[in-house]
Amino acid sequence: MPLSINLTINGGARNVALDDPRVTLLDLLRERLALPGTKKGCDRGQCGACTVLVNGRRVNSCLTLAATLDGAEITTIEGLSNGELHPVQSAFIENDAFQCGYCTPGQIMSAVGLIMEGSAGDDPERIREGMSGNLCRCAAYHGITLAVQEATRRMAENRREDAA
Ligand code: FES
Ligand code: FES
Repeated sequence: MPLSINLTINGGARNVALDDPRVTLLDLLRERLALPGTKKGCDRGQCGACTVLVNGRRVNSCLTLAATLDGAEITTIEGLSNGELHPVQSAFIENDAFQCGYCTPGQIMSAVGLIMEGSAGDDPERIREGMSGNLCRCAAYHGITLAVQEATRRMAENRREDAA
């Protein structure tokens, strides 16, 4: 008998019937829910290409069983911009933080999660450490670190302006 779960995905409520309780969040997003922006790299928790936010925390969706997520709020790369590019997306473009782009959705989601965690600030060493679960075969790491630094500063500025 299918297992029914309720999810909020990119702000929209979805009820999903899972025929197989072993389906991962990654496969659910890409193959059932037409959200292919989240990439499958290794499919075993080693590359970070599949990173999404679950209840605001970054997770490897290839290691997460969809059946465990009833009631969860999920944000994928498709849900990040709100008409305008998210500051992390803009910073990636402005800092040449990608080449082939395959790892980029996971890098961006991980960066958003890292900035929300508030543990790295704009310190490049701590950003590199915080982003170390996201591999880039094109070795765009320098640009990625610059982009995360810049987005961190920009988002802090935005928060100050909103509070003023
Ligand atoms: S595809 Fe999930 S970590 Fe590589
Ligand atoms: S930009 Fe090619 S794998 Fe990262």
